[in-house]
Amino acid sequence: MGKDHKLTVDHGGIAAVRQMFNEFYRVEVTTVGTPKELAERMAHLTKFVSDLIINALQAEAGDHGALHKQYDTFRENLLPTLEPEEFADIYAQTMAYGLFAAKLSAPASATFNRAAAYQYLSANRFLRKLFLDVGEGLDNEVIAPYLDELAKLLNHADMPAILQDFGKRTKTEDPVVHFYETFLAAYDPKLRASRGVFYPPEPAVQFIVNSVDWLLRERFNRPMGLADPDVHVLDPATGTSTFLYFVVRAIHDTLMAHKQGGTWQQYVREKLLPRLFGFELLMAPYVIAHLKLSLLLKDLGYELGKDDRIQVYLTNALDEGVTHAEQLGTLGWYISQEASEAARVKKQVPIMVVLGNPPYSGHSANASKDASGQLNFIGKLVRDYYFVDGAPLGERNPKWLQDDYVKFIRFAQWRIQQTGHGIVAFVTNHSYLDNPTFRGMRKHLMSTFDEIYVLDLHGNTKKKERAPEGGKDENIFDIQQGVAILLAVKLPLDPSGLAARVHHAHLWGEREGKYKYLASHDAGSVKWKTLQPSQPFYLFVPQVVKLREEYEQGCDIAEAMPLNLLGFQTHRDPVAVSFDEKSLRQQVAQYLGQTPSKQDWEANCRRCDYRPFDSRTVYLGKEVADGPRLEVTRHLFEPNLAFNLVRQTRAETWQHALVSDKPTPAVFIEIKDGSSVFPLYLYTTPESTAGTLFAQTETTRTPNLAPAFIEAFSGKLGLTFILDGAGDLKKTFGPEDVFYYAYAVFHSTTYRQRYAEFLKIDFPRLPLTSDKKLFAKLAAKGAELVSLHLLKSPTVDEFITSYPVAGNNRVDKVSYAKRRVSINATQYFGGVPEAVWEFRVGGYQVCDKWLKDRKGRSLSMDDITHYQRIVVALKETVRLMKEIDAAMPAWPID
Ligand SMILES: C[S@@+](CC[C@H](N)C(=O)[O-])C[C@H]1O[C@@H](n2cnc3c(N)ncnc32)[C@H](O)[C@@H]1O
Repeated sequence: MGKDHKLTVDHGGIAAVRQMFNEFYRVEVTTVGTPKELAERMAHLTKFVSDLIINALQAEAGDHGALHKQYDTFRENLLPTLEPEEFADIYAQTMAYGLFAAKLSAPASATFNRAAAYQYLSANRFLRKLFLDVGEGLDNEVIAPYLDELAKLLNHADMPAILQDFGKRTKTEDPVVHFYETFLAAYDPKLRASRGVFYPPEPAVQFIVNSVDWLLRERFNRPMGLADPDVHVLDPATGTSTFLYFVVRAIHDTLMAHKQGGTWQQYVREKLLPRLFGFELLMAPYVIAHLKLSLLLKDLGYELGKDDRIQVYLTNALDEGVTHAEQLGTLGWYISQEASEAARVKKQVPIMVVLGNPPYSGHSANASKDASGQLNFIGKLVRDYYFVDGAPLGERNPKWLQDDYVKFIRFAQWRIQQTGHGIVAFVTNHSYLDNPTFRGMRKHLMSTFDEIYVLDLHGNTKKKERAPEGGKDENIFDIQQGVAILLAVKLPLDPSGLAARVHHAHLWGEREGKYKYLASHDAGSVKWKTLQPSQPFYLFVPQVVKLREEYEQGCDIAEAMPLNLLGFQTHRDPVAVSFDEKSLRQQVAQYLGQTPSKQDWEANCRRCDYRPFDSRTVYLGKEVADGPRLEVTRHLFEPNLAFNLVRQTRAETWQHALVSDKPTPAVFIEIKDGSSVFPLYLYTTPESTAGTLFAQTETTRTPNLAPAFIEAFSGKLGLTFILDGAGDLKKTFGPEDVFYYAYAVFHSTTYRQRYAEFLKIDFPRLPLTSDKKLFAKLAAKGAELVSLHLLKSPTVDEFITSYPVAGNNRVDKVSYAKRRVSINATQYFGGVPEAVWEFRVGGYQVCDKWLKDRKGRSLSMDDITHYQRIVVALKETVRLMKEIDAAMPAWPID
């Protein structure tokens, strides 16, 4: 780009682009009659423009060119982490959507072209200026043909057909939004996911808007609900403004019901436009939002005048909104003015309702720190959720608190606190309701608000949720993450000074049923159940209080076995893990570009338990494995036993305990939820003590059992604890007895079912018995289970299966029918009981998983034997689990 703000021409690039361009437009556009076709064609053109801008930015000399200046403006005012590619997107989308919006507003009879377009954008002055500025700045021989083509394309579009049904009450799908989703899906599907651009189904929006209306009338003494002229409403992640759209309609309905139709014109100008606000970060939905609201108002009989402004701002809602308007050039000035206006809304307007469906993205696109690494505005606010009852959470990995939706809830909470009263009404990810990491957040919300209503809409396909009656449970969005509606109410005068009353309801079932329910209910007609969230978790889900008290009598296994940690994570298993040492050596050598030295190899190459019943070889050297977690893994280099447990799980049932005697990865028993290792013995070796005051010449070990735990258990049982091995169970007991006893309890079906709710949300608690006989009986069963699961029991060689057909032994397609597990068209393992085939450990169906992990490989003789040993081990496990339950007296164990 030259000094005159014009692009200079890169002739080579132009030729290439022209060719693409020509190919695309080889076919003369005939009438474009569907939103899908138009969106796709527009997306292609917009992509070309975006690529051109990236090139121009790269070609611009130094960082002080005009384009860079504008890039900096966007970064300072909207997105501190904006990359050049994203900036190019904003530019390109502004032009595409500017033209689109202009075409929609232009009279059908007018000649529509690039030059005339801006005058039809009068409903949004900011957009008009921006469009003009961007358009003029780039109006040259490179970019102009594209804009002309876009205008031509729009001239060929049958707009009435494309906008068919818009604004009609009976519509099920908004064509303008639908259009945008199709555009984005074709333009940049990744951007769509990273900014959480998923549009809410209308029944959910209706439910939220109707509930807010109800709460305003019932709790805030505002008989006109949302139509009350003092109620300021903000959707901070407004997207295409579906929420504000429904708010306007609800207000219109109320005025009509009060027979006030004659005041509508004045009402909109004086009492409506000044108090509805939206924030949006992306240009395209921002334009659509303006379009959608102006079309709605038009439909309701109000034409936006020259001085009207729909207060949807292009801004980063989570930014404090400090602006530097004076330092910026023309375009910067408009954007910064927009940001200043938005900052005024954020800080000064007494917002009473914050509503919407904020983005969800575990890997938040909204940073918590500024460029210098300091916590920014939202980062500081979210920090409050890292504490509970005055103490830090002490979580090892609280990254889920950085999810975008959490930041938006925190922002909304802050905004209502500033006003002093009001309502937060969001539909979001539902994980915060019961995940232990969110206990600080729940407590914090309880202390700000007086009433909290949670409608859990479920639909968590990751958790494979099913309705309690056993039916299908579907998500109301096209996403896998379960969702919930939150209505948090802060009353003008807190009547009690106490923590919020929390009300909860479930909505299970098929999507259509959920839509029907949401469309016909509001907070006033839901059958809520009142909860009493209490320490330590403050859960926003119902719990059987008595059972919980009983469960909490048990010992927290993470306290009883203080050294516990997530298993190892290499981050590149295809390099760091292999079936055998030889192929591992090749993989590692290829990755490192050299064969590791003998010394390195011996220090880092180990057998590991990679998946249930599936041992492999791993290289744990730092240069290959990012997280060897040697602080725990090294104890498994020596003779040992370890529990592998999950801190929490999304699985439907808890079956998440498995013994290992080798190092295990963080996905050992569960791919999603993280598998933690609890070694029974802690080793002190000459190497680990070399050069210290406590240097040892021999390896020694101590049990990984907390003194308080040992004391409590020993006191209950009346047995003396010995530091190693097993006791006689008459006078003494040892670490291994404790381990086996616990393993048996974890395999009790009654235990798993009775405490299901609690087992899902934290490491298991172990009930301690005072009954010596029961302890001995369970320890014996647990020992049997351990020996089966480590495939050390002689029983596993007493096969119950056959492998009768010869062949190439290749695992092609694994299937199960009539007690046969087929591995290819002809070969199978016969006599596999259904209960064994179905048996799950953690997140894995063992017999299926083991074979599927060998797809494309030919099973060796050892493999065929190994598989049949697994079948015996699982069959015996089913038997032992029944025997364990039969051995238990009445619950709770005493
Ligand atoms: C799930 S969508 C909301 C859709 C919206 N309810 C509608 O009716 O279209 C979330 C929106 O938040 C926007 N967004 C993400 N981060 C933002 C931020 N920091 N500030 C403002 N908007 C943001 C996304 O671009 C996206 O349009």
